[in-house]
Amino acid sequence: MKVQDARYVMSNSDYLKCPSPELPEYAFIGRSNVGKSSLINMLTGKKALAKTSQQPGKTQLINHFIINDAWYLVDLPGYGYAKVSKSERDKWEKMINDYLYNRTNLICTFVLIDVRHSAMAVDLEFMSQLGEAGIPFHIIFTKADKLKPGQVANQVEAYKAKLAELWEEIPPMFVTSAEKNEGRDAVLKAIQTYNDAFQNTQP
Ligand code: GTP
Ligand code: MG
Repeated sequence: MKVQDARYVMSNSDYLKCPSPELPEYAFIGRSNVGKSSLINMLTGKKALAKTSQQPGKTQLINHFIINDAWYLVDLPGYGYAKVSKSERDKWEKMINDYLYNRTNLICTFVLIDVRHSAMAVDLEFMSQLGEAGIPFHIIFTKADKLKPGQVANQVEAYKAKLAELWEEIPPMFVTSAEKNEGRDAVLKAIQTYNDAFQNTQP
């Protein structure tokens, strides 16, 4: 799929104020600093579309971007950021969960994992909550440029083995680097497949 046009639409703290839910939508979620905003910029080919930072905690709202006037990409705040107050963290968590559990046009969620880290409890718990709520998700490994290809493959295998202990089925996985444009086509292809299926459900 070609991204011909990508535009910022709006930012909200309340899912009810997000754009009316007619178009298919895909959200990026993961720990703070994992590279959610950078991935949106890489996929859309627009370096400054979503705001990024070396400091965790940059994205603080639900941010909608419209692609080709046909579907939405959503940048969410990260979870597990230790340096904000507990009350602030609880507020973000509620905002994210309300959005994820209630947004009717959310087709698929992409959970981002830094490929350098071994499986973390906070991510595994987040994914099991999604599973329990019946929210479909894929896994995207980020920052692949920071390891050698062999190390990336080992990390992915180790992650799969960990998930296999917990899940009967392993979700689809993608390896990406926002730095090197790696994984762009595969992620966009998955979205295209969902968009096509969505089209077929429309009268
Ligand atoms: P929050 O909004 O704070 O939750 O963070 P985020 O997940 O949106 O991360 P963001 O995209 O802001 O990136 C965090 C840092 O990681 C920035 O310094 C990015 O330049 C860097 N980064 C993101 N993706 C990659 C990547 O694929 N490779 C490398 N080398 N750095 C990356
Ligand atoms: Mg961000």
